[in-house]
Amino acid sequence: MIRTMVGRDDLLIRPLTYGDLPAVIAVERRSFPTPWSLSMFVLEVAKADGICLGAWREGDLCGYLICACYPEAYHLMNLATDPAQRRSGVGRSLIDGLLARIGADANVTLEVRVSNAPAIALYEQYGFRSVGIRRRYYVDTGEDAIIMWRALGTPWEVE
Ligand SMILES: CC(C)(COP(=O)(O)OP(=O)(O)OC[C@H]1O[C@@H](n2cnc3c(N)ncnc32)[C@H](O)[C@@H]1OP(=O)(O)O)[C@@H](O)C(=O)NCCC(=O)NCCS
Repeated sequence: MIRTMVGRDDLLIRPLTYGDLPAVIAVERRSFPTPWSLSMFVLEVAKADGICLGAWREGDLCGYLICACYPEAYHLMNLATDPAQRRSGVGRSLIDGLLARIGADANVTLEVRVSNAPAIALYEQYGFRSVGIRRRYYVDTGEDAIIMWRALGTPWEVE
């Protein structure tokens, strides 16, 4: 278990359990126009090799991260911070918790909406770089996704 001090606040980062999922769903619904269903979270938490982390501040869930493990790379599938807790280091602490578990040099990929400047800025802080576009990836709005990779030792890391 990783305990992270962020500014004046104390964050607890630990793996999600099934019992955490109602609180996760509440944050999810406040965070996305097309939220994941409960069964999607259950499937990910059930995977033996997945990494599903929550962040708690003063006992309340304030964010979570869902990462699946595939042969070629980890896939960061979901990340959200409760709107009331944003810009206070929760997203960063969750990614720190992920990298502490999978190794700082692990290959990680993700998709992000082209309009999602806050998330893109966060990922870029961690060395994720855009490697392509998936056209009309998001079926709700038809928006394109940027495909990002974080792979140490690749040209953009050694420049
Ligand atoms: C993206 C998200 C998870 C960031 O979480 P957060 O807890 O607010 O992030 P942090 O406080 O750890 O911020 C870390 C960095 O992210 C970037 N960032 C976060 N919010 C930002 C914003 N509104 N504008 C610009 N950059 C932002 C900054 O680089 C920031 O570092 P800084 O504060 O030193 O400038 C959050 O905005 C969110 O839940 N958005 C809705 C869900 C979503 O889009 N998830 C990502 C799906 S791919």
